[in-house]
Amino acid sequence: MAKFDENALTQAVIDSLGPDADPRVRQISASLIRHLHAFIRDIEPTQEEWQDAIDFLTRTGQTCTPVRQEFILLSDALGASMLVDAINHRLPSKATHSTVLGPFFVSDAPRVPSGAMISRPEDGPPLRIEGSVASVTGEPLQGAVVEIWHCDESGFYDVQKDPQTLNGRASVVTDAQGRFMVRSVVPSFYPIPDDGPVGDMLHAQGRHPFRPAHVHFKISAQGYRSLTTHLFPAADPYLNSDVVFGVKDSLIVELTHAEQTTVLQHDFTLAAN
Ligand code: BEZ
Ligand code: FE
Repeated sequence: MAKFDENALTQAVIDSLGPDADPRVRQISASLIRHLHAFIRDIEPTQEEWQDAIDFLTRTGQTCTPVRQEFILLSDALGASMLVDAINHRLPSKATHSTVLGPFFVSDAPRVPSGAMISRPEDGPPLRIEGSVASVTGEPLQGAVVEIWHCDESGFYDVQKDPQTLNGRASVVTDAQGRFMVRSVVPSFYPIPDDGPVGDMLHAQGRHPFRPAHVHFKISAQGYRSLTTHLFPAADPYLNSDVVFGVKDSLIVELTHAEQTTVLQHDFTLAAN
């Protein structure tokens, strides 16, 4: 007769996995069971604490809508998104480092010509965003698509204010030298949405909800691995405590100033497929 006592239980659950299950499903399930049981043995929850954990996950699911993904936010705030990103981007050392996509990407942002203004001027002080795209061996990549998005001076993305009116985002195509440039406004640091269960978790953990100011980039070129990353202006108060752990030293950029405009400049390098 089966004896599912405290010690035998873990192996009994692993042994219940069917022999015909997909090998990757078996591997993932066995590891999940082993780590979940180890976690429970480590923390020894009371029944009330375990019910609280189930209520937390229930509220996390219930907070999701077509424009709010609370589980991604949970993954981000626990550092899981950045760990998955790191495991999947063990790239040549010269390739620009990646970071999280975040929830404010819109796949059909307007394509604009080089030099276009992509924000409403009243949304912040002027910023020129410029740079180039090349291979890790230094060849300029003409025709690379550079998708750019960021929040405004008050820390809000267009889609948080009015999802019908896109601004602070665009895609631009690199020229024969691999260069691109758009005009925009200076973004601010901002809190991730913290009025739901992830915000409650951060509060209980004694953490703030802020991300340092940044500009998002998604860069695609035929024959190359597409790159999802940010640039972080230097001297932001939250660079050392990004709530989603997305900052990498190589992505911090000193801003410069030209013609009464702040300039964010960076040369990106893509790894080949
Ligand atoms: C963002 O940078 O847009 C972002 C990333 C992760 C969680 C929330 C926001
Ligand atoms: Fe962002």
